[in-house]
Amino acid sequence: MTLTQDFSLSDVLELPPTAAASSLSELQKLIDDERERCGKVISLPPDKFNDAQSDEVRVRFTGRKSPLQDWLKSLRNFPAEERKEAGAKINQLKAFLEVEVERFVTLCKQAAEQQRLNNERIDLTLPLPEVRLGSRHPVAVAAQQLLEPLRRLGFTVIDGPELEREFYNFEALNIPAEHPAREMQDTFFIASQWVLRTHTSSVQAHAMMERGVPLRVACAGFTYRNELDLTHVPTFRQIECLVVDKGITLAHLRSTLNAFFAEVFGRPVKLRLRSSYFPFTEPSAEIDVQCQQCFGSGCRSCKHTGWLEMGGCGLINTRVLESCGVDSKVYSGFAFGMGVDRIAMSKFGIADLRSLYEGDVLMSRQLALR
Ligand code: DAH
Repeated sequence: MTLTQDFSLSDVLELPPTAAASSLSELQKLIDDERERCGKVISLPPDKFNDAQSDEVRVRFTGRKSPLQDWLKSLRNFPAEERKEAGAKINQLKAFLEVEVERFVTLCKQAAEQQRLNNERIDLTLPLPEVRLGSRHPVAVAAQQLLEPLRRLGFTVIDGPELEREFYNFEALNIPAEHPAREMQDTFFIASQWVLRTHTSSVQAHAMMERGVPLRVACAGFTYRNELDLTHVPTFRQIECLVVDKGITLAHLRSTLNAFFAEVFGRPVKLRLRSSYFPFTEPSAEIDVQCQQCFGSGCRSCKHTGWLEMGGCGLINTRVLESCGVDSKVYSGFAFGMGVDRIAMSKFGIADLRSLYEGDVLMSRQLALR
């Protein structure tokens, strides 16, 4: 292997004849030769060695196949009284070579690194390589987009805990311990009195108790239920709205929903409030939006009903107002809540809920741009 024109590595590293010594004087000669050979190599300029070559130097002088190993094996040919001294001499040389060669190899590597740096040319005019960023999840994007019109309608956007006391998730919302409505929501119980919130309605109780009334708040966040099938995943997002003030009626609820959905879909959409039951509202209704695929004539997305169920709403049950410290003789309110995934599917024209949760960054990126 040629290093530079001035010398050749194989010449320098050539192994001595492996004739094993059998006396101290023979050994001394081998040792002196080896020391001289090493001295020759490590007095060469380190910057003449690339990384592979300096490794070769290290292996030659200190590796498992270096001549010293043979010499150690040949000790048994020595007269018994010389063996100890011979062994000591070989080990002395070994220690010397290890220190000196290591020092030299380090110098070589530093020199090689310096050369690499010197040769590096940075062209600041080159275009940047494309940076492939991920994307926000479409449902996270949808949640933010849903909050926007609510902000414009005068709602304050608030937050609430996902790990929740049973009280806020249930009792405060008129769902006592043995109430059958607890069965409607398959709850993750975390510890005594602690659950993962099954709906964002728990934020209603926090808001009333911590902020007092009058109140106009909205919240979007994760909710959790122990269920998994074609149309349900255990972690999903909901948004929740709450208004408490003097003289609030169903008319306020209805007109807020009209304004909200018109902004969400970018045009007025037909809404239907279908009488229903929730423990925390009275009266209660399901919110149906006319299917935006078929506009009511019936298609697969709406299961041929012409309508999509978006969530629930109603006037706040006076018991809820009272258990949250609000005087129900003075104040009334409305609330609505819905699954963000549903709205996102309808808005983005997604047919299969599960496709939102397959971590498909291409799909996320495409939807996030809309
Ligand atoms: N929390 C209900 C659920 O998860 C949805 C809901 C219904 C929210 C009626 C409300 C409401 O605010 O008034 O199914």
